Amino acid sequence: MMRLARAAMLALEPEQAHRLTLQALKLLPWQKPAQDDARLAVTTLGLAFPNPLGMAAGFDKNAEVHNALLRLGFGFTEIGTVTPLAQPGNPRPRVFRLPAAGAVINRLGFNGQGHDAALAQLRASPPRGIVGVNIGANKLSADRRNDYLIGIAAFAAMASYFTVNISSPNTPGLRDLQGEAELDDLLARIQDTRAALPSRPPVLLKIAPDLTLAALDAIVNLALKHRLDGMIIANTTIQRPTSLQHLRHANETGGLSGRPLMAPSTRMLAETFLRAERRLVLIGVGGVDSGATAYAKICAGADLVQLYTGMIYQGPMLIAAMKRDLIKLLARDGYSNITQATGTKFKAWLE
Ligand SMILES: Cc1cc2nc3c(=O)[nH]c(=O)nc-3n(C[C@H](O)[C@H](O)[C@H](O)COP(=O)(O)O)c2cc1C
Repeated sequence: MMRLARAAMLALEPEQAHRLTLQALKLLPWQKPAQDDARLAVTTLGLAFPNPLGMAAGFDKNAEVHNALLRLGFGFTEIGTVTPLAQPGNPRPRVFRLPAAGAVINRLGFNGQGHDAALAQLRASPPRGIVGVNIGANKLSADRRNDYLIGIAAFAAMASYFTVNISSPNTPGLRDLQGEAELDDLLARIQDTRAALPSRPPVLLKIAPDLTLAALDAIVNLALKHRLDGMIIANTTIQRPTSLQHLRHANETGGLSGRPLMAPSTRMLAETFLRAERRLVLIGVGGVDSGATAYAKICAGADLVQLYTGMIYQGPMLIAAMKRDLIKLLARDGYSNITQATGTKFKAWLE
């Protein structure tokens, strides 16, 4: 049944399939999620994660299915990217599957309904678990930095944590905010805004996998200087590995996600772990599609992991299977809790 449903979904145009998936999730009967094995529990960021597997940003841009995703067995989910105003994003088609590579290219461009709509959804369906809010800027904003501050203020009472997304390749100029001077200023303003709020959710910075190591040095230093809580590594890549060369859609403009992103994003994660020396919480994302790949991220330095593209190809049964496999891997390596594996093999990923 599930395999048939998967095949049917993959036969549809990607954005249609996504809309249908969101509708199906909304119809899921309410049920309490099964209790996770205690060995998968992670306490970090002042939050108790029942397991380390999160839905990455971009799947639930408007906070329509956050509770359904938690019921499916995710340990946490991240809504957004949300922008202050609704905006349509880029013209379609703008999402492309590369099934032979287990990959997707998207150039959505922060399509979304804006802060008010996402807030209304969160109020109508208050989070029953850990729900992060990924904030971004409108394409036509006169002051993009201010869009992030507006986002922090708007969602402060609702967010388990914030992700500052300055790494989407699909809003021209956005990644310039990763530059040292720009980022120094943005992070100072974000922390000032946060300090003035009654609730102060943790703030994480989501970076691109395409940064040079010199740029990563500067970013980690700024994250520490401004006392950020953590980093999310990484967003989609604008690189196109040669292995994709002959595949249909490989040359579409946009960010590449999925299996080809596993190695470069895990390398960047390990390089961040090396620099952060456990002073930042790290969320590893990019190419996770199994218990083994999630475990590899954790051993490379991740406290938590996220995935999106793996779910597109394998469907919702993937999460339960991943949790089973993670427990087997912990037993194999003699760990009594997943947190013991964090960073144990980061050196294997360094240049
Ligand atoms: C269709 C699509 C839309 C995405 N939208 C966002 C987004 O709005 N904000 C964001 O920070 N990341 C977004 N991402 C990036 C993912 O959160 C994640 O960082 C990336 O896809 C790598 O993980 P994966 O290989 O498991 O998909 C998107 C990814 C995809 C495939």
